[in-house]
Amino acid sequence: MDSVVRLPVDTWSPALDADATAAYARALEGGAVLELPQLPFVLAAGEQRFLDPRWSDGHAKNISLEGSRIKGARGTPDELAALAAMIGRFAADAKALVSALLPRYAPYVAQARTSFRPQPATGRPVSWRKDDARLHVDAFPSRPNRGERILRVFSNVNPHGQPRVWRVGEPFEAMAARFLPKIRRMRPGEAALLRALFVTKSPRSEYDHLMLRLHDEAKADLEYQRNSPQAEVRFTPGTTWICYSDQVMHAAMGGQYMLEQTIHLPLTALYDRASAPLAILERLTGRALAA
Ligand code: SIN
Ligand code: FE
Repeated sequence: MDSVVRLPVDTWSPALDADATAAYARALEGGAVLELPQLPFVLAAGEQRFLDPRWSDGHAKNISLEGSRIKGARGTPDELAALAAMIGRFAADAKALVSALLPRYAPYVAQARTSFRPQPATGRPVSWRKDDARLHVDAFPSRPNRGERILRVFSNVNPHGQPRVWRVGEPFEAMAARFLPKIRRMRPGEAALLRALFVTKSPRSEYDHLMLRLHDEAKADLEYQRNSPQAEVRFTPGTTWICYSDQVMHAAMGGQYMLEQTIHLPLTALYDRASAPLAILERLTGRALAA
């Protein structure tokens, strides 16, 4: 299957027939990036001013909106309200889009965090583990999800013609088969200890343990970074794209000014649970990982 599938969709609430949505679901859950080159998130005239890194507070990597709370930004109360309104409009559009493209997801599209990323994708000094210019799948140390999915909607709003440049790597199963033999099992009592120390907000499952280790093993392996199967993808301004970032090996190589919506989906929402990372890892290890 192709790692990027282009959709001729030019509205945030498209009317689609069941054949189209089934094909999109198969591609997305199979590990493809859905690219919508004709679906720009259009800023209002008064919002162009937000395309500037100065709105960042200087601490957080991104500006984020959770419910009505904006974080990581600085400005007057009026400015912050206008910025929050822009990000909130993207959140609503992203939710409508996912509900239209993947109707089975609609009841579950509870919003998680929405982010605005006015900083250049690369160039800040970060440790190898936080370096998203290295191919990786997303996994969060403090937020165990026991196999729940991480779906992300992105839109490039760059006003200078700059693409968001990604590398997209090999299928999840090939990556997992390569690194699993190097990964130790979780120790007895480890989940309870991490919880007691407030490292995690809920008990870490073996699935979460493996996903974190896969994230780290891939990022730490420079030979893998250079030589594993991969393709460069350039998302031009005005392009929106969607992928399971817990499944698609991805790396951000350049670009600036992007909006991003994270959606957490339970496994029961999926069209095909067998293609989820949890099912793949359980098959490869031969044991239950989120029980
Ligand atoms: C990432 O999710 O690793 C980064 C995506 C981006 O900044 O384009
Ligand atoms: Fe990532």
